[in-house]
Amino acid sequence: DKRYKVPRPLGTGPSSFIPVQEILQEGAKNNDRQIFIEAFVSTGRVDHLLVVMGLHPEYLTSFWKTQYYLLQMDGPLPYPYRHYIAIMASARHRCSYLVNLHIMDFLQAGGNREWLNGLNFAPQKLRNLNEINKLLAHRPWLITKEHIEALLTTGENSWSLAELIHAVVLLTHYHSLSSFVFGCGINPELDHEGGHSFRPPSPRACDSDSCLRVEDYVNGHGLDNQGIDIADSIIAGDAMQEVEALMARMKLLQECRLDEEASQEEMATRFEKEKRESLLVAPSADEREFALPNVSRFVEDPEFGYVDFTRRGEQTPPTLRAQDYSWEDHGYSLINRLYSEVGQLLDEKFQIVYNLTYHTMAMHCGVNTSMLRRAIWNYIHCIFGIRYDDYDYGDVNQLLERSLKIYMKTVACYPERTTTRMYNGFWRHFKHSEKVHVNLLIQESKMQAALLYVLRAITRYMT
Ligand SMILES: *[C@@H]1O[C@H](CO)[C@@H](O)[C@H](O)[C@H]1NC(C)=O
Ligand SMILES: *[C@@H]1O[C@H](CO)[C@@H](O)[C@H](O)[C@H]1NC(C)=O
Ligand SMILES: *[C@@H]1O[C@H](CO)[C@@H](O)[C@H](O)[C@H]1NC(C)=O
Repeated sequence: DKRYKVPRPLGTGPSSFIPVQEILQEGAKNNDRQIFIEAFVSTGRVDHLLVVMGLHPEYLTSFWKTQYYLLQMDGPLPYPYRHYIAIMASARHRCSYLVNLHIMDFLQAGGNREWLNGLNFAPQKLRNLNEINKLLAHRPWLITKEHIEALLTTGENSWSLAELIHAVVLLTHYHSLSSFVFGCGINPELDHEGGHSFRPPSPRACDSDSCLRVEDYVNGHGLDNQGIDIADSIIAGDAMQEVEALMARMKLLQECRLDEEASQEEMATRFEKEKRESLLVAPSADEREFALPNVSRFVEDPEFGYVDFTRRGEQTPPTLRAQDYSWEDHGYSLINRLYSEVGQLLDEKFQIVYNLTYHTMAMHCGVNTSMLRRAIWNYIHCIFGIRYDDYDYGDVNQLLERSLKIYMKTVACYPERTTTRMYNGFWRHFKHSEKVHVNLLIQESKMQAALLYVLRAITRYMT
């Protein structure tokens, strides 16, 4: 009976993937609470996103500084514009969580309420960002100097170069943050649209592959309920073996490395093979567990997405060789010249996330994880067509299991399609904080990839 339905919070705690207890437990190990206090003082709240990111305090500090600088410090763009750009970027990935956060910030910064009715109500100058927003979110390799030129030379609605840099950093920041939000199953804040649901609690007690396999096992072997304990421990054993196998492969790769290097041609071939195959790695058409609030009023051409392998004739992204345009040698120095504090903050953030390690892997301590982190970073760049000449993409195949690749590609390219099942499906014996760590790598690697393409186009326009 409808009369007795009371709204209940959708999901409990900050993430629908990670049990609250785990966040508290793992979070408690970090005594660095200062960042939460700062966040609370400056925004009046500590949102779900920060709590989950706070599992990695060193990263969070750097992230927070950068975001604070982009949104709150003196800069080329007026404050309401910054939040409107955040809304446009997040809406591209249908990330209503971030859209809602910035609708509130936009109004607080004195933004015109009318613009919130949709893009058609915003000034032409902002609407002109549509094309580059779309390309940066889904196919950054298509950005050319003509796109840059069009934005910089359209009369009264022209962007200055400084404004444009501010805008593209904001766009890439929010595209990649949308990946984090979906990748970690961040729950809506209670005061947001969609934060409550009239749905009955889910009858499904479990939603992971491992649960299914318990049932298969039990049915197949005619066990009664008591058997589930046994089946559980068999699966735990499986997952444990996966960790051992991964450890062994890392060790082997390290040892082989000393023996012989593949030729340059062979290395190039391995990259192209991995890139082609990554097109075929795609999420299944799983239904979302609940509908997302509709943010399409902030989106133009909603059908445009990452290259779609099911469509005939779609090309793989062309290859960008990092030696021709890399962050360290080209991107960083350009952005540093045009918007220097942000250049430095970004560089520091990339380094922190790339270097971040606790020397642990699942239940093992004292592990050198650098090979695994590099494989994750480079696989995301590979999906976006960026190749490192000195990297052997054979390693990606050795180290990243298929379910992890599917998860990574989904989070990076179609984040709104991430499901609990995908999250649970990879690294079944790893800690949640380790899965959040993977998300940080995906997020930053994706941001850097998109920045590389747009900065290259700006360089080409300027020369
Ligand atoms: C979302 O809203 C737009 C109008 O803002 C409407 O045209 C569209 O049909 C809606 N989509 C869904 C799935 O409800
Ligand atoms: C990251 O590691 C590199 C290489 O070891 C080092 O040069 C750099 O200073 C480190 N950066 C940070 C921020 O820790
Ligand atoms: C960890 O392994 C990488 C290669 O995978 C190596 O370059 C690095 O020196 C190692 N770090 C330590 C501390 O042994």
